[in-house]
Amino acid sequence: MKILVTGGTGYIGSHTCVQLIEKGWQPVIIDSLVNSKISVLDRIQKITGTRPAFIEGDVRDADLLQKVLTEHAIEAVIHFAGLKAVGESVSMPLKYYDNNVHGSVVLMQAMKQCHVKTLVFSSSATVYGDATVMPLKEDAPTSATNPYGQSKLMVEKIIADLCDSDPSWSITALRYFNPVGAHESGLIGEDPQGVPNNLMPFLAQVAVGRREVLQVYGNDYQTPDGTGVRDYIHVVDLAQGHLSALTHGHGKAGHHIFNLGTGKGNSVLEMLNAFGKASSKELKYKIVARRPGDVAASWADPHKAKSVLNWQARKSIDDMCQDTWRWQSQNPNGYP
Ligand code: NAD
Ligand code: UD1
Repeated sequence: MKILVTGGTGYIGSHTCVQLIEKGWQPVIIDSLVNSKISVLDRIQKITGTRPAFIEGDVRDADLLQKVLTEHAIEAVIHFAGLKAVGESVSMPLKYYDNNVHGSVVLMQAMKQCHVKTLVFSSSATVYGDATVMPLKEDAPTSATNPYGQSKLMVEKIIADLCDSDPSWSITALRYFNPVGAHESGLIGEDPQGVPNNLMPFLAQVAVGRREVLQVYGNDYQTPDGTGVRDYIHVVDLAQGHLSALTHGHGKAGHHIFNLGTGKGNSVLEMLNAFGKASSKELKYKIVARRPGDVAASWADPHKAKSVLNWQARKSIDDMCQDTWRWQSQNPNGYP
């Protein structure tokens, strides 16, 4: 199967391309490189022995998309391309709606034009807003607390309307919980630009000496140790979830939604300890005020993905920390 992977040089996209190639499918990447580096392609090639086709371009470029869909005889699309910094989305909402919502509409229009009707979309557990009832099932109420989350919800709504209007589409929205970790080779991983917003890349940079101390955002939540609890999922498990979704969705019309998580929550302090163990470092931290917009706890009910997609996360917190550490210690400054 030939699959267009938008955002394929990014963190989750690159791991998914490796899995696609290992399954014998052919990813064709389109990425503007706004948040990734071209050297990712060398690394994918080193792991798999295959260099995926790559087109540098923006998903908002309708003509380019139609050309790529046609010339490469694409059968399905995985749509990762988007911006994901929550804080930036609050200060630059138009940039987020343009990139994430308009970009997705242009993509679906081009797919329609080219009769490519199978799509897997990167959604997020952020669509559950500030839900307090755990674990989160796919039919839990949705809401958004920032423009990034709103952009994901809007695209999910557009997808629902599109599938209602035309039953020949098969679109799967995957709601990721907290993707962390790296490929076990240490050749690809998460390479945030500037100061990391998320816990794991920040911890990894403390361990490698790029940052002094982790700020723990609050220890007065209603959680066992008072720090925030999240459902961390290994990026390779997550990548495999896309293959399961494609296998399930291809040729099966309709609108499908799945949580991709482990079903277990871990606290900030548990992650800090696990990362200290994996890196054999003592990681400095200090407790500071809560981060505005954070929820106390969030974890998935992953049963629907297990029963329908026959997919479940297999890797442990220790695997996530060891693999992140291998990537970070082998590439202290990220990709060249
Ligand atoms: P990433 O930034 O590493 O990857 C996204 C890729 O898309 C980058 O390579 C970037 O250059 C590219 N891109 C962005 N806008 C583009 C555009 N208009 N045209 C072409 N390319 C464009 O992010 P990621 O962590 O791999 O996330 C992938 C997707 O998953 C995103 O849609 C993100 O919102 C979603 N998601 C991520 C997380 C997470 O924690 N990483 C959680 C939930 C959902
Ligand atoms: C964040 C985003 C969410 C997005 C997700 C994936 C916010 C409010 N939420 O989720 O919308 O979908 O990333 O990109 O930004 N923590 C610290 N110190 C740090 C960083 C994080 O203590 O330096 C804590 C947080 O308070 C939280 C946990 O670690 O309890 C995980 O944080 P993070 O990795 O940023 O993920 P989320 O907040 O779940």
